[in-house]
Amino acid sequence: MTFLGLLFLGLASFSFGTGNAQANSFLVDCGSNYSTTDANSRKWVGDSSGDGFSLSYPGTTASTSTVEENSVYQSLYKTARIFDTPSHYGFNVSSGSYCLRLHFYPFSFVNLNVNDSVFDVTANELKLVSKFNVPAEISCRSTTNNSVITSLVKEYFLYISSSELQIRFVPNSGSFAFVNAIEVFEIHNNLFVDSVNRVGSKEKVPLSMNDLGIETMYRLNVGGPALEPSKDRDLWRTWEPDDGFMFSVNAATAISSTSKISYSSVNDSSIAPLLVYETARIMSDNEVVEKRFNVSWRFDIDPNFDYLVRLHFCELIYDKQNQRIFRIYINNKTAAEEYDVFIRAGGMNKAYHEDYVDIVPQQIDTLWLQLGPDSSIGALGIDAILNGVEIFKLSRNGNLAHVSERIGTGGEGFGTKRTKSKVLWAATGGIISVVTISMACVFYCHRIQKRKADGVKENPPGWHPLFLHETIASTTNAGTSKLPLINDGLAASYRLGRRFTLAEIKAATSNFDDSLVIGTGGFGKVYKGEIDDGIPVAVKRGNPQSQQGLAEFETEIEMLSKLRHRHLVAMIGYCEEQREMILVYEYMANGTLRSHLYGTALPALSWKQRVDACIGAARGLHYLHTGADRGIIHRDVKTTNILLDENFVAKMADFGLSRAGPSLDQTHVSTAVKGSFGYLDPEYFRRQQLTQKSDVYSFGVVLFEVVCARPVINPSLPKDQINLAEWALRWQRQRSLESILDPRLAGDYSLESLKKFGEIAEKCLADEGKNRPTMGEVLWHLEYVLHLHEAYRKSGDGDSFGSGELGFADMSFSLPFVREGDEEPFP
Ligand SMILES: *[C@@H]1O[C@H](CO)[C@@H](O)[C@H](O)[C@H]1NC(C)=O
Ligand SMILES: *[C@@H]1O[C@H](CO)[C@@H](O)[C@H](O)[C@H]1NC(C)=O
Ligand SMILES: *[C@@H]1O[C@H](CO)[C@@H](O)[C@H](O)[C@H]1NC(C)=O
Ligand SMILES: *[C@@H]1O[C@H](CO)[C@@H](O)[C@H](O)[C@H]1NC(C)=O
Ligand SMILES: *[C@@H]1O[C@H](CO)[C@@H](O)[C@H](O)[C@H]1NC(C)=O
Ligand SMILES: *[C@@H]1O[C@H](CO)[C@@H](O)[C@H](O)[C@H]1NC(C)=O
Ligand SMILES: *[C@@H]1O[C@H](CO)[C@@H](O)[C@H](O)[C@H]1NC(C)=O
Repeated sequence: MTFLGLLFLGLASFSFGTGNAQANSFLVDCGSNYSTTDANSRKWVGDSSGDGFSLSYPGTTASTSTVEENSVYQSLYKTARIFDTPSHYGFNVSSGSYCLRLHFYPFSFVNLNVNDSVFDVTANELKLVSKFNVPAEISCRSTTNNSVITSLVKEYFLYISSSELQIRFVPNSGSFAFVNAIEVFEIHNNLFVDSVNRVGSKEKVPLSMNDLGIETMYRLNVGGPALEPSKDRDLWRTWEPDDGFMFSVNAATAISSTSKISYSSVNDSSIAPLLVYETARIMSDNEVVEKRFNVSWRFDIDPNFDYLVRLHFCELIYDKQNQRIFRIYINNKTAAEEYDVFIRAGGMNKAYHEDYVDIVPQQIDTLWLQLGPDSSIGALGIDAILNGVEIFKLSRNGNLAHVSERIGTGGEGFGTKRTKSKVLWAATGGIISVVTISMACVFYCHRIQKRKADGVKENPPGWHPLFLHETIASTTNAGTSKLPLINDGLAASYRLGRRFTLAEIKAATSNFDDSLVIGTGGFGKVYKGEIDDGIPVAVKRGNPQSQQGLAEFETEIEMLSKLRHRHLVAMIGYCEEQREMILVYEYMANGTLRSHLYGTALPALSWKQRVDACIGAARGLHYLHTGADRGIIHRDVKTTNILLDENFVAKMADFGLSRAGPSLDQTHVSTAVKGSFGYLDPEYFRRQQLTQKSDVYSFGVVLFEVVCARPVINPSLPKDQINLAEWALRWQRQRSLESILDPRLAGDYSLESLKKFGEIAEKCLADEGKNRPTMGEVLWHLEYVLHLHEAYRKSGDGDSFGSGELGFADMSFSLPFVREGDEEPFP
């Protein structure tokens, strides 16, 4: 069997779109005696009489006075035509390519339970749906909010070689069929071309048979809002937002452009409206050294069909090639390598699309689309962009219908399965078929349970609602947040912690009482709160006004949810109600490390406590740098970001907050120098290249700050003392760090351990990153410092270690970098 059939859809050019009925264009309001005009001023005619079309058998009609759904098609959904025996609409057409849409809006029909409708629909020889059931409660979740969708539109493209299009409704025995509206119109020019890329092969494959039918499964405006049919006046298509299909919303950043965009080919003007190309998603940059992750979308699909995946691209940021090169994966197979949109489209702001075909085998009901770095070309291949995506199902042997074995209502589906099983039983007999059947059953039950657990309701069979009318209604309201931050599925899959209501947060913080503020920062205020009758928490409330804040908020949730470690401050949960951005952390009773060093009346920390705190912070940083499959740079290491719990265990805080993804006017965030003055790596400053060694530098400053207990920048001091790092380094190089030691440490430390400590700090402050130790090495040496100090304490008076040369080889203890049980795996 050839893998694909054709796709030669029309060269006939025909202009339409004025909304008036004209040749080869039919808008039919089924069950109505009158003409209706929809919200887009398109005129729909009643189906009892029509110019150029006829109905073979009238069946009955039904009408309702209330249509719950607030869509442009509302007026059409008040009537339906119901067939209890086979019937067809015949349209007089000239041969060519057509778009066909069937609208279903189930309401309560007199004497009939709409749940019981089970029927087949064919268009000429093409089977569109089989054993199709439209329950009264359409339980498809909208992709942008949890509201229930109440209507369904199915869209097809087909080539008609004869002069008639027959749309035939065949109720299954004892059941009935219905339809609310039908759109048929000829499409002009090359909406589909005659050869496409095949996933996993370098060649294009021809699509060259005139009887291939196409069903639109998904049509998404990536990174942008829903687009109503009125925004696409050529084909009256609906474009949905893509959030609900993203595997991890935070892996990508939405961008948009107001530049003038044009089609890269004059023939492409009806491929997609230019609005689709004005928004996109690019890869997020979450403090990640190398972006080694994919941006992924997943789609439920019907198994055992070929799919045409159409990707819409437009480079909105870079005005030259080789700036953004990536790989495209479809169903975990490489569809394209070294993809540079700028080159393919022939420039910036050029709308371009690429089609891929892939075969989806039996048992696979998910289609993955992933864009990721192209490691084969090194540092260039670390960013990706996508503006829109469409997924089309291609017919096999004249069939587009998928009869699911998961039919919940109507009973026909189970009946079919049972019949099949019987045949199988009879044919093969014995154990094999028993196994087969019970495995199928396990699969079925498992699926249902899985869906339920995910909080996603099971869709009726064959249902891939193309038009989510409620989505459109809600997203066109200006002011409502268009991109939900986190959906339930994401929260579940990333263990994002607890989702608090705003009421809970207000109760926990006495309605954000200023007396409970324990810190303020760029992000907003931090309150001490109490949840669940007495558990203290730190509540960080973002400033809702700032867009920057929103991106950082997402980054932090994403980061924190993946990072769990004894020496990282743990996130307990979050709240995102009413545009609030609130994070709830474990409460760190002893506050910042700095508050115990200087500037407060708190008692001085002992030398041991200080070394312990440095070791804890180093462990947290070491984990950040190495624990993830891609290293993470904290970027703002300082004593106010090292927090101490009630037992003075140190934990790193505020990672993930330090950078937001790039925005349009800010193409390379990685070049913007961020961090805190006095801690900043001079090499980073010079070369604007961020590495983990920048954190090591800052940590070195922290070490000196711990020894000297003074601010890292103190402008009131003589010029050569203003900058702690420079000043302390000079003393350290003269091997007389004890001269500038915090006087409160007198008599509490061993000189040997201080020397070692100073050496570590000095190494961290090496001018060039490559000469600095890694955090792992720093950690190792700090543990050694502690060992020296403890040995000194045990020895009593401290003399015995005064001048001993203790090489590492002499150490009588073993020192694993990472203690067992210390690290938790990434989720
Ligand atoms: C349409 O007209 C027919 C006959 O003229 C009538 O029986 C039917 O009720 C009408 N339908 C509606 C929805 O008004
Ligand atoms: C369709 O066309 C045929 C002949 O071309 C004509 O006989 C028939 O009446 C037309 N049908 C309608 C409903 O206009
Ligand atoms: C149709 O089925 C749904 C559940 O599948 C049920 O909630 C609803 O009440 C049923 N409607 C009718 C009219 O039986
Ligand atoms: C546009 O389509 C026409 C007709 O198929 C073709 O001859 C022409 O080469 C196409 N132009 C481009 C730029 O692809
Ligand atoms: C991206 O996805 C593809 C296909 O699933 C996979 O082979 C590849 O390893 C992924 N790349 C990364 C960096 O995760
Ligand atoms: C494809 O990749 C996704 C995401 O990486 C993964 O969840 C899925 O299991 C993979 N599918 C197959 C068939 O390997
Ligand atoms: C979801 O969309 C519906 C329809 O527009 C709207 O009434 C409802 O308020 C929305 N819900 C949320 C939580 O935004």
